[in-house]
Amino acid sequence: MAAKLEDVKGIGPALADKLRSIGVTSIEALAITPPSFISEATGLNIDRAVKICQYARELLKINFISADEYLQRRLKIGKITTGCKALDELLGGGVETLAITEFAGEFGVGKTQLAHQLSVTVQLPRDMGGLGGAALYVDSEGTFRPERILQIASRFNLDGKEALKRIIFARAYNSDHQMLIVSQASSIIEKYNVKLIVVDSLIGHFRGEYAGREMLASRQQKLNRHIHQLLALADAYNLAVIVTNQVMANPATFFGNPNKPTGGHVLAHGSTYRIWLRKGKAGKRIAKIFDSPVHPESECTFMIAENGIVDVE
Ligand code: GTP
Ligand code: MG
Repeated sequence: MAAKLEDVKGIGPALADKLRSIGVTSIEALAITPPSFISEATGLNIDRAVKICQYARELLKINFISADEYLQRRLKIGKITTGCKALDELLGGGVETLAITEFAGEFGVGKTQLAHQLSVTVQLPRDMGGLGGAALYVDSEGTFRPERILQIASRFNLDGKEALKRIIFARAYNSDHQMLIVSQASSIIEKYNVKLIVVDSLIGHFRGEYAGREMLASRQQKLNRHIHQLLALADAYNLAVIVTNQVMANPATFFGNPNKPTGGHVLAHGSTYRIWLRKGKAGKRIAKIFDSPVHPESECTFMIAENGIVDVE
């Protein structure tokens, strides 16, 4: 029988119930939830919160692993096709699990379109480039369109209604709400077999709420927590996370590309793969991978069509 919260040292039935009520429904969830959140949400003293999180990690044996075990974990990486051969190739086969992939670029470049497309392709069976799982779509900008999902689903021969049912949608109204959604995602992930989490966009609310230089440090701190929570979910459930990031003109740059992804160093270190998107001629889009630990820096092109993201003919 699978271990449950009560099997963790220091957790009785009452505390287990309390934890479940705040969205911490399993040992995996407990292991990756910040103790400060548990303490705040349950009233548990912080030292005890730290202890039970630690016990949960020990139970899961995720504190220390040998390089050999690490390789075994890497072999479990799943890949989700983007539905575009050139993009898949750029990504080394598709969007990977156990990682955060960031799509950055200017307005209208296709970040949200890609997010829609991957929410569909993750549902495909493995032999067709998917992971046979569901998507959790966190929308901070109000740009999710179910109609678009129907169009994309039909291209991949999926039943539109079924495809919609396997996209769990959450509108994030501010940065705290966005973080709450992610910190309580474990039960949804387990219930629906979520294999992709989308956050579109990651930074929007943070940037709006923490304007000005004096707010920068607290913004980055919060963003850091948010990103690490996402990464922890990717790790605990072997799922893929994609986030989008708007670009901001940086007038201080005189050489090279004057646009750079917002989020600063926190995001640069937190996301595992960063894909830069820009507009080309005749509606073409150019994708470039950078900051990747494993991919060489390279580029490819794609188009946005009626039925989603496609290869350039
Ligand atoms: P921001 O969120 O504003 O930063 O932009 P984004 O990068 O998310 O852009 P998005 O993914 O929303 O792309 C918008 C573009 O997709 C539009 O300019 C259109 O070119 C294209 N697009 C969206 N829907 C369709 C469609 O049904 N058919 C076609 N051909 N193109 C579409
Ligand atoms: Mg968008």
